[in-house]
Amino acid sequence: MSLFLADSDSLTFLADELRRSAPEAAQTQISGLGIAADVKLDGLWLAFARQTLPDAVEVSAASINAWADRIIDTVAGHFPDDQPWRLHLWPHYGEGRAGLNRCELIRASVIERLKKKRRHLLRSMIDSDAVFDTQTSLVQCILTSPETGWLSTSLAPLPHTRRHLISSFPRGEVPLADDKSAPSRAFTKLVESEQRLGRRIERGQTCVDLGASPGSWSYVAIQRGAHVIAVDRSELREDLMLSPRLRFEAADAFKYQPPQTVDWLVCDVIAAPQRSIDLLLEWLRGKRMRNFVVTLKFKGHDEYALLESLKRAAPPLCAEFHLTRLCANKNEVCAFGVV
Ligand SMILES: C[S@@+](CC[C@H](N)C(=O)[O-])C[C@H]1O[C@@H](n2cnc3c(N)ncnc32)[C@H](O)[C@@H]1O
Repeated sequence: MSLFLADSDSLTFLADELRRSAPEAAQTQISGLGIAADVKLDGLWLAFARQTLPDAVEVSAASINAWADRIIDTVAGHFPDDQPWRLHLWPHYGEGRAGLNRCELIRASVIERLKKKRRHLLRSMIDSDAVFDTQTSLVQCILTSPETGWLSTSLAPLPHTRRHLISSFPRGEVPLADDKSAPSRAFTKLVESEQRLGRRIERGQTCVDLGASPGSWSYVAIQRGAHVIAVDRSELREDLMLSPRLRFEAADAFKYQPPQTVDWLVCDVIAAPQRSIDLLLEWLRGKRMRNFVVTLKFKGHDEYALLESLKRAAPPLCAEFHLTRLCANKNEVCAFGVV
């Protein structure tokens, strides 16, 4: 059984998406949290799941120390001694700080107990929020009440086929970036995609920004020291148009082709989702970029099934392919990855 977490406003879309992927699998909705279902994870893409808890089991523990013991039991004897691991622990009940306080006390108790009995496991425990790599094992524990919850472990190395399902951010939630100088808030989508991917636009790289105006995605790339070809019918904010790092092309995003392979395709064009899907696949098939972030924009809720064809076609063309409704997305889904 795996537990898939979603925003409460995405739960019905996640249920539909799971039904499309695994029509036979029984689903159990966990109020406001996600959906538990027995589905094969390898080769599964779920745009509306923010985080996955593989092999999740329901647990109960009567006290803080009993919770700590349950967590240590799942790690000890299962995770190799010298391999890094991380604990994501959070409450999903009540209002205010009570649940958070309980989780902090449970974490402190885990550390205290490891100090006494299993120092090797404490040494390999990573206590930071940094994006982890596929060599880090993960324990996820959600308290649905003070005494009940879910516990899941993902043992490293995380298979390539699951990398996109398991986020290094607790609950799969990424805090929105802040920059008052950007031309619009749209840049938060690009930054969140980079964070989820664990790689970002770097100095000296080349970047094509399709549907670039007013320019907040180009702004991010320029700030990082990249060279940007910005394609739109409308010009970008004046200071960006004057940047020596930016070349503006007043062109149709769907007809533009780069003279050579670029480091990044970033695309936030307002278009029907199928057009953006076709554009991404065309770029992937032509090997026109090394990395990409493409927004798929929806009107209403009837067209999410279009994502299924992308889930089939894109992964074989990529080293890494993600498809996620980002925290920064409204009625959108972002496709991002490495070619
Ligand atoms: C949501 S905005 C992009 C915002 C931009 N990412 C930013 O952060 O500032 C969408 C842009 O797509 C452009 N657009 C729509 N259709 C286009 C097309 N066929 N060719 C080029 N640009 C197009 C629009 O002019 C608009 O500026």
